[in-house]
Amino acid sequence: MPDKDFSDILCSLSSILYSFKDAESMCSDVVNLLVSAPTIRRSLAIMKGWRGEFHTVGYSGISRGRGLELKNVRCDKVTNEFITQVLNDKETVVVDNLPPGISSPDSKGKNLMCPIMCKGKGVGVLIVEVMDDPVSLVKFIDAVARYLSLAIENHTIHNDWLENRIELVQEIETLQLMYEIGKEILFNLRTEEIVETVALMIRRIIPCDGVTMALFYEEKTAFKVIASIGTGLENGLELVEADVPFYRIAMRGKTFYQHDITLDIKNFSKLAEWAEEKNVYSYFCVPLMVQDRLFGAIILSSVRSAWFSATHLAAAEKVATQVGIALSNAKLIEDLDEIFIGTVTSLVKAIDAKSNWTRGHSLRVAEYAVRLAQKAGFSRQKIERIRIAAILHDIGKIGIYEAILDKPGKLTQEEISQIRKHTSHGVDILLPLNALRDIIPIIKHHHERYDGEGYPDGLAGEDIPLEARILAIADVYDAMRSDRPYRKGLTFDKAVQELEGGAGKQFDPVLPGRFVELLQQSGLKDFELRD
Ligand SMILES: [Fe+2]
Repeated sequence: MPDKDFSDILCSLSSILYSFKDAESMCSDVVNLLVSAPTIRRSLAIMKGWRGEFHTVGYSGISRGRGLELKNVRCDKVTNEFITQVLNDKETVVVDNLPPGISSPDSKGKNLMCPIMCKGKGVGVLIVEVMDDPVSLVKFIDAVARYLSLAIENHTIHNDWLENRIELVQEIETLQLMYEIGKEILFNLRTEEIVETVALMIRRIIPCDGVTMALFYEEKTAFKVIASIGTGLENGLELVEADVPFYRIAMRGKTFYQHDITLDIKNFSKLAEWAEEKNVYSYFCVPLMVQDRLFGAIILSSVRSAWFSATHLAAAEKVATQVGIALSNAKLIEDLDEIFIGTVTSLVKAIDAKSNWTRGHSLRVAEYAVRLAQKAGFSRQKIERIRIAAILHDIGKIGIYEAILDKPGKLTQEEISQIRKHTSHGVDILLPLNALRDIIPIIKHHHERYDGEGYPDGLAGEDIPLEARILAIADVYDAMRSDRPYRKGLTFDKAVQELEGGAGKQFDPVLPGRFVELLQQSGLKDFELRD
């Protein structure tokens, strides 16, 4: 570098100090600049690391001999003590002999050593070796060190501000997420749906490569993976104590963090498979607990080692508390629903059984409707909904006199309108049950006709829910095949003929054909359900 005079150096200095680089880069640039002065032989900057030890961050000038470079070198004990002393005094000093760790064998001049300060504390030193009388340069080097200190302080303050802001933003995002999870609890009480939603949401506040949501099954003493995203554990996988190290810790309600998965893979085979298949390096597991009861666990994973920080763990624990409550509510509601559905199913069976003519009707209709829904490619959840709707489709008949239901002769207009009320009675019975709200439209509209001539609302075509159109076919087919007080059950061929003839009129135009195919192929033709 060509020699520069001091005014040139000052000009270049200002551009370094306004460069918004980090402290170490600025120090390195400053020492490179200083050696361009004709009287400065070498320059060195030393900064304090986060553990409190000093290391060189910039070196420029004459060789230290033996080809050693003095960049990014940790200082020895003697040098550390020497620098600490200068920083305690907070003054620029002239030093004849530097400690051997930072001195140069071909050193000829004297050294000026200036403290670098940040927020009132010494964070490093700037050292220059000069050929002339060092006293003449004290003021200049001292000023450079002060400007450098100021720039480092500004940079630190800016960084702190940024970090606080990031923390604040993260805090707000966590709150927002918790609000959304809260909403999810209010509007959606099914365990598996809560779990899937949370898995997707949690990635918004915690940067990670994978999310696993597992539920704990007491009867099996195992976690089962219910939802998995990215590098998450495989969906459906069951994990017992011997499989994963976090099992025992999660059982005790504690969070488990492993920054390096390779430390555990020897002892846990499923962990080894996970690390191998998904390239997972670090992960943590937060249990989902409510009042000492374990509901499951959230596991976040990364393909980088030691990726997660204390902030990530704290955010996940906050979310886990919220999810735990959601799951315990869901479990409670599901238990209640199960008890209810169980009770209602036995009631429906009892109603069916009261009359010889309808014995087993609801369960057969359920079997037909489920098979048809499977053939139509419905999701597991939708099929389950159809099954329950079919079992309960005539629940509204509870309020209708048996004398009318079982009447052997022709019904009067008044009796017909009484029977037709069973669809809306059914809705009234099921309305208070949150978990069954989805099946209400299916039950309400199972007597609508595709041509709009049905009841209760006279809906037509695609306005009739698809599930209700499926249920209508299953219901009518079973009714046609059964003996009634006023007629014998129809033969298979005759019933099929009726179904096909009703396509596009009473029934959906396509579904009867598919149903007939199903009956012929699957052996459902001779299907008979016994109580
Ligand atoms: Fe009905």
